[in-house]
Amino acid sequence: MNNVIINTDNLRSFLCEEELTAMHKEVLAAKHTLMSGDGAGQDFLGWLDLPKDVQASEISSIKKDVERLAGKAELFVVIGIGGSYLGARAVIEALQSEFAYMESGRRFPIVVYAGHTLSEDYYHQLLQILDKRDYAVAVISKSGTTTEPAVAFRIIKGHLEKKYGKEEAADRIIAITDARRGALHDISKQEGYKTYVIPDNVGGRFSVLTPVGLLPIAMSGYDIDRLLQGANDMRSICMNNDGLEDNPALMYATIRNIFYKKGRKVEILENFVPQLKYFSEWWKQLYGESEGKDGKGILPHSLSFTTDLHSMGQYVQDGERIMFETVISVASPSHQVAIPDDEQNLDGINYLLGKSLTEINRNAELGTVMAHRDGGVPVLRIEIPKVDEYVLGQMIYFFEFACGVSGYVLKVNPFDQPGVEAYKKNMFRLLGKPGYTDK
Ligand code: PA5
Repeated sequence: MNNVIINTDNLRSFLCEEELTAMHKEVLAAKHTLMSGDGAGQDFLGWLDLPKDVQASEISSIKKDVERLAGKAELFVVIGIGGSYLGARAVIEALQSEFAYMESGRRFPIVVYAGHTLSEDYYHQLLQILDKRDYAVAVISKSGTTTEPAVAFRIIKGHLEKKYGKEEAADRIIAITDARRGALHDISKQEGYKTYVIPDNVGGRFSVLTPVGLLPIAMSGYDIDRLLQGANDMRSICMNNDGLEDNPALMYATIRNIFYKKGRKVEILENFVPQLKYFSEWWKQLYGESEGKDGKGILPHSLSFTTDLHSMGQYVQDGERIMFETVISVASPSHQVAIPDDEQNLDGINYLLGKSLTEINRNAELGTVMAHRDGGVPVLRIEIPKVDEYVLGQMIYFFEFACGVSGYVLKVNPFDQPGVEAYKKNMFRLLGKPGYTDK
């Protein structure tokens, strides 16, 4: 069943039926290119079938690792950057308590992150915590040669070996990398680490449904079978439907490409529940790295409301009309909190009594959507029933499929990222890396 409903009510006045029909045709051609595997980047289409192809033996091995490590690790350090960390973080932070770090007596470890920064203070702070807590590590790098996770792994491996001894440390490390090559592959072989493979035909930002995402998500105690089930059901919906009303990915790709053509160069992904903040970070990488090339591409931006209504709301309402908005609208919370009655009503909010916080938040959302629409910004709403593993699985596959289609509409290769190399070459030259100093 489709849990991702696209609501176009607040953008219809910004486009006409002819534009929809014309872009629908382009999007269908792009879908055909994607599914026939004869477009640019065709060697990186493994993600299309991931939710159905994932091996039962791999899932069971991940669950065994969770059993083996959960009892002896309060923290699970996930070392990775970009596509090798954002998907796991998006799902974990969507599902866990904002205050998970302060809970005691947890059954599953708290995931903490490394390898996504070169900040010295960050590693100092992390090591101070790792001195006091039991932990295990997942080191994730497809290439196995990315500088940030390599530096982090060297620091943390040294700490782990000092804390537990070499043998126990090796037992607490899991490496997720290429099947055949790369420094991480070689280190893992030499040290005898448990390893998982990132398939050759799956790029970093499309890898959340491989062990890259599945292991950290399972280690946090979440249901990876439901996540994959959601993704697999959305796979059927995306692959088997060509109508805009039956296929949310095609509708989304159609709308965003119409607005891009009309000069809306910025898309703002918005949520009204803070636990989706990292989902937006994952989405920004997915779309930014897939489309931002050859001088083209929508600039993906994100905001968390109502928080950011008190900072960026002014710009969206009244600034340059360069954007359209995509609101992720969650129907039901997982928990309820009552607003207490107060006879004195000094704060003047007794008029809210009897309404749930979710109802108040929903009205903030509707009020915002109307205001922005009336201020000249088209607003697309993605309506989901709740935030759980199944719905997140659907959302992941929906956004990935729409991204592949959108990239082909834009006539770029959605599956490469040549631009990411530019800063690395300069950094290596500046740092005197062998082979780069004369460049
Ligand atoms: O999407 C991508 O390909 C990138 O963001 C990579 O995931 C990121 O650069 C990390 O690469 P690697 O996994 O090779 O360390």
